[in-house]
Amino acid sequence: MAGRGHVAVSADLEALGQAAAAYVAERSAEAVAARGRFTVALSGGSTPPWLYRALVAPPWSERVDWLRWHVFLGDERLVPADDERSNVGLARRELLDHVPVPRDQVYPPPVEAGAPDAVARAYEARLRAVFARLAAPVPRFDLILLGLGSDGHTASLFPGMPALEVRDRLVVASPPGSLPPPVDRVTFTLPLLDAARAVLFLVAGQDKAATVRRVLDGDADLPASRVRPRDGDLRWLLDRQAAADLATTA
Ligand code: 6PG
Repeated sequence: MAGRGHVAVSADLEALGQAAAAYVAERSAEAVAARGRFTVALSGGSTPPWLYRALVAPPWSERVDWLRWHVFLGDERLVPADDERSNVGLARRELLDHVPVPRDQVYPPPVEAGAPDAVARAYEARLRAVFARLAAPVPRFDLILLGLGSDGHTASLFPGMPALEVRDRLVVASPPGSLPPPVDRVTFTLPLLDAARAVLFLVAGQDKAATVRRVLDGDADLPASRVRPRDGDLRWLLDRQAAADLATTA
């Protein structure tokens, strides 16, 4: 498993949330100490709420320097923020409404900007502007949070789709993937993911077990296998069910 990152397994979803919160708090503290800010990209899906719920409660809620957070979304479904499928809506409900991250340091994709490609370009421009203001000309997130679909997708990079091959953009549009919900999306591209100082995959559930194994075996057909931070920490936090097929290869 060398080169595929550090893998840790938690007993259940609650423990996974706690382990993830500890990692996020550590990356946040390091970034604030080194650069005075913490740039983080959140993800959607059903697993991150376990992290968010851990973060909004002690001890993490008191240890994290929320005022230094700058929050983006690694991918977003093109629906209004109050739609229950919105990733930023989820992040607000479960995390951002409960902690003092300044509102003007939360940067959701501008879903109202028009066609998917226009939203992607506007978000990339926003991202470049924020990182320029933060004196970091090459956008290098302190942490990008990712999930894994049972088809191997991550963020909104779906198997076989052109978005996966894009090298000259940071954010692109992605048509509805093979899994629900069937909506247009925008997504970070591999070059932006690979520039991060840290990438954290959170994966839970029996239906992910075979895919986790394929990704950690390096199956290049799966988008998640292609996330390889050039000079950053790659970490997988799994629950026991998602890790079920790994034991047989140990
Ligand atoms: C999205 C997500 C997506 C998600 C995976 C895993 O917008 O759909 O960002 O990439 O992370 O589908 O989702 P679960 O946590 O529900 O397994």
